[in-house]
Amino acid sequence: MEMAERVEELRQTLNQYGYEYYVLDRPSVPDSEYDRLMNELIQIETDYPELRTPDSPTQRVGGAPLDAFVKVTHDTPMLSLGNVFSKEELVEWVERIEKDLGYTPTFVAELKFDGLAVSLKYENGRLVRGATRGDGTTGEDITQNLKTIRSIPLRLNEDVTFEVRGEAYMPKRSFEQLNDERERIGEPLFANPRNAAAGSLRQLDSKIAASRNLAFFAYGLVSQDDLVASHDESLDYLKRLGVAVSGDYTTCQTADELWDYIETYVTKRSDLPYEIDGIVIKVAGYEEQEQLGFTAKSPRWAVAYKFPAEEVVTTIEDVDFSVGRTGKVTPRARFAPVSVAGSTVTYATLHNEDFIKEKDLHIGDRVVIKKAGDVIPAVVSALASERSGEERVIEFPTHCPACGSELIRLEGEADHRCVNPECPAQLLEGLIHFVSRQAMNIDGLGEKVITQLHEAGLVHNVADLYRLDRDDLLGLERMGETSVTNLLSAIEQSKQNSLERVLFALGIRLVGQKAASLIAERFETMDAIIAATVEELTSIDGIGTKMAESIVLYFEKPEARELVKELAESGVNLSFKGMKRPTTEGAPLSGKTVVLTGKLHEMTRGEAGKQLELLGASVTGSVSKNTDLLVAGEKAGSKLAKAESLGIEVWDEAKLLDFLKEHA
Ligand code: IVH
Repeated sequence: MEMAERVEELRQTLNQYGYEYYVLDRPSVPDSEYDRLMNELIQIETDYPELRTPDSPTQRVGGAPLDAFVKVTHDTPMLSLGNVFSKEELVEWVERIEKDLGYTPTFVAELKFDGLAVSLKYENGRLVRGATRGDGTTGEDITQNLKTIRSIPLRLNEDVTFEVRGEAYMPKRSFEQLNDERERIGEPLFANPRNAAAGSLRQLDSKIAASRNLAFFAYGLVSQDDLVASHDESLDYLKRLGVAVSGDYTTCQTADELWDYIETYVTKRSDLPYEIDGIVIKVAGYEEQEQLGFTAKSPRWAVAYKFPAEEVVTTIEDVDFSVGRTGKVTPRARFAPVSVAGSTVTYATLHNEDFIKEKDLHIGDRVVIKKAGDVIPAVVSALASERSGEERVIEFPTHCPACGSELIRLEGEADHRCVNPECPAQLLEGLIHFVSRQAMNIDGLGEKVITQLHEAGLVHNVADLYRLDRDDLLGLERMGETSVTNLLSAIEQSKQNSLERVLFALGIRLVGQKAASLIAERFETMDAIIAATVEELTSIDGIGTKMAESIVLYFEKPEARELVKELAESGVNLSFKGMKRPTTEGAPLSGKTVVLTGKLHEMTRGEAGKQLELLGASVTGSVSKNTDLLVAGEKAGSKLAKAESLGIEVWDEAKLLDFLKEHA
């Protein structure tokens, strides 16, 4: 037999055995047989290196450690899910779907795995890239680490090209073994399997990830409506290709059936070999999904039911007060450490003075705490009956804990604020926000380094970041040549960010990421934003008066304008680079905002949208007073009603086709 043929045969057999062992959990041969074949393959590949390929089962570990992860942009954003927390909320969600579609669709109910969302790209059946979700738009290339996960096939059973989305997680048993081992060698323990999985996938050396026994479940395929017509078909299809899919999903026709499924897993959950934090419900049909569409953050066709937070009792040992970016002073309770819903809790915010009064909290009180949405710890109530009389009143400070200036509490506001613009705590928080992932995304500038830079007097405001040189950084504790080089290059790279990141990074009160994007897209340059009036800002759909006033107020301050000038002088890009919709001047639909709804027969709504955009239209998802035209296909529902009530022009499919033909 030709050596190449033997290699191919060994790979196929090993892939099959690996699939049975790691995906199906049903090994068909003893481990020794697997090892024997693997050793043969390793030997051949050593003797004939030209036969080694990246998708060979020998290639799961072994690459050299990386210097840094490369950022990747997701072609299709990785969204998150809206949540429901009760049967009532679930029923409401189902009713909304029924109302939007005009009938009840089939739903798929499946487990919500508690790990990390990842994207796997396959080309001609071969795994070519694995990436983290990141902020949903930009993630990191962690292919080397994902290749170490045995339930992720390096090669599929068919030579297809597509992107799979799923969850990388750490099984409960791997987690216990890992923490036992860490305890033995005196390493800090991981709080829960999700943190442990995240920590493992963040390692630059894939040998570490390989030693952590991670696993993977696929939960979706990115836009493959030519291959399959529904979500459940996509799961079956993935299974056929050799991808790990949990067998626990089911289809349901009613809210009651969905609720039954949820209740089953509230009990079954503790018997599963991995953690789940809820149930995900998806409208099955792809056409229906398309019709329902998306909000800014999540699909309307899916929702997560989150399991109720576990509640436990602990003691408030002390309360400290910190100063945020906007000068807001926040009290935080420190507890005797306690485990809630799988992780250890030591702190929780007490929000403000009113919250403390309303819950009648004292230092020394026994309190009930829970994890809100299973993530953020929150104080539910104090157990007044357990008081000994030793408890102390929580005194709210009258002066800033960071700079000592007097705090103010405005009429009608719950918060105490420090209004000293030079307050070091505010400057520090502002810096931390500026470099954060959602803002300028400067890797390697975490809270610790920023604090060091700030304390060393090297960075006073955000413009100073761009004046740092090698010697400044080498002088810091625990900063070697390589970290300094990486950091300087990350700072340099951040100068190329598009305007919306800079605008968000400035930390203007009330201006979130979404608003920053809308404003940047409309005004295109920072100078234009600085010159904008409240009226101009509020003319953007999604920008309210309060936010507009806050922006105008911010840029009225000479310090703010000076800061922007300094950033520009350092070479920071202050113009919008994002996707501009083609609004070619003079095009027939230039300046027109169009919404598509209902079912079209001659083409999909996506195709129609693209053609309309080519003719200058900007196509959006929801009808508002800014909509100029609604194209309504069959079974158009609430959008049509709304457009009619607003007196917006409505076209049917025939009119659309005529128009497209005329302007082809
Ligand atoms: S679907 C566009 N299905 O939950 C919808 N997500 O907030 C994308 N997750 O970070 C998500 N199990 O990683 C989906 N069966 C499942 C899931 C699941 C866990 C995670 C996902 C994401 C988060 C959604």
